[in-house]
Amino acid sequence: MDQYIIRGGTRLQGEVEISGAKNAAVAIIPASLLVRGVCRIENIPQISDTDTLLTILAELGARVSYLNKSTIEIDCTDARCQGAPYDLMRKIRASYYLIGAMLGRFGKAKTTMPGGCNFGVRPIDQHIKGMRALGAEINVRGGYVYADAREGRLRGARIYLDKVSVGATMNIMLAAVLAEGRTIIENAAREPHIVDLANFLNSMGADVRGAGTDTIKINGVEELHGGTYTIIPDQIEAGTYMVAAAATGGEVLITNVIPKHLEGISAKLRETGTFVEEYEEAVLVKGNGNLNRINLKTMPYPGFPTDMQPQFGVLLCLANGTSVITEGIYDNRFKYVNELRKMGAEIQVDGRVAVIEGGRRLSGALVHACDLRAGAAMVIAGMVASGVTEIEDIHFIERGYERFVDKLNALGAEITVRSEDEESSARLIQIS
Ligand code: EPZ
Repeated sequence: MDQYIIRGGTRLQGEVEISGAKNAAVAIIPASLLVRGVCRIENIPQISDTDTLLTILAELGARVSYLNKSTIEIDCTDARCQGAPYDLMRKIRASYYLIGAMLGRFGKAKTTMPGGCNFGVRPIDQHIKGMRALGAEINVRGGYVYADAREGRLRGARIYLDKVSVGATMNIMLAAVLAEGRTIIENAAREPHIVDLANFLNSMGADVRGAGTDTIKINGVEELHGGTYTIIPDQIEAGTYMVAAAATGGEVLITNVIPKHLEGISAKLRETGTFVEEYEEAVLVKGNGNLNRINLKTMPYPGFPTDMQPQFGVLLCLANGTSVITEGIYDNRFKYVNELRKMGAEIQVDGRVAVIEGGRRLSGALVHACDLRAGAAMVIAGMVASGVTEIEDIHFIERGYERFVDKLNALGAEITVRSEDEESSARLIQIS
């Protein structure tokens, strides 16, 4: 398996441009199934999760073409309900969006139970609750999800989510835009990528209102037409570089961001004593090598994002004093702590709470990327550690960070990729 080899002790300096938001792209790509026409989507991140979804759509009969490295055209006019490669579906969490999109377009769907990062139980009961409320029959058996809109077309409904769920909110939105009548989603998630999906759907002729609030109203329409849409910048990619700048004591201008989406991250970084300045579409972060301890709790947006929790876990190892992180979303998102302990970290974990002893100098070691964001956190740890760090299972990282090594090395990091298989990794979908 490929590895990252990181020589630590480098301060990041310079400018980095943020790519399109992964968690918006992995919903917007399946959403194109709902459109009879050509969707031109700009600012698509070049990551394996988007490649996987584009390959699945192509297998369903969609015509997919890259106009350039971050712009694609998807024509699902002739797409069909059968033929999705289940082995690819199992690889990613976002395959669940195919349920809503296929139900909305075809009135039926067969997908696998979703894959994705393993940090505890990640059920889809709220997705199923929403689809059933819209009139679909849903059965899960043998690892597959079978869905069928009994009357051929879904019917709008009022749906209260028992848990604030990003995926369920977006999946129900996908199923509802072509349903007959009105759908109201209550206790909806409010993340920026939910607003982005709603804006994409509306630009193709849907009628979605209230995205970004906890109540979303959708009036079903007969058909969606093609159009052009630009995906928002990735708040978590941006946050990762912000923490990397703070942890290495560097100075980095992070461009192509929406500062409003970074408020929780900027606020907590400032609490550590890190300098953060916001511009129109950029943030400047200056580390000062003298970090304050803080307490942190992850919450649904606009609270502090859970996808930034591992990165802060590394940062707080360097702070003066003892910090406490409470993971408010998942029941087991501290697997990276064992890897950090190999580098000298002193962290106690009890369920959803981690107590981090600061003032630690980390030292290089052979560690694993346990999942996408944990892997990014280990890269930050390797850059601040003394000596050399080797990170295995880097495929997790490449699911969600476009050109991660190139962008970090351009800022002064010293990272090489050791690949056992020298062949260049062919893209899942041929560039045409
Ligand atoms: C999305 O996952 C993101 N993934 C995750 O990002 C992110 O951590 C998460 O939202 C929270 O922001 C994608 O968008 C592809 P949820 P999702 O449904 O939709 C429970 C990353 O690193 N729940 O908001 O799966 C669930 O177990 C990834 O980019 C139910 O109980 O998250 C969790 O505890 C990691 N029943 C909580 O709700 C359900 O039906 C929030 O999950 C659904 C969720």
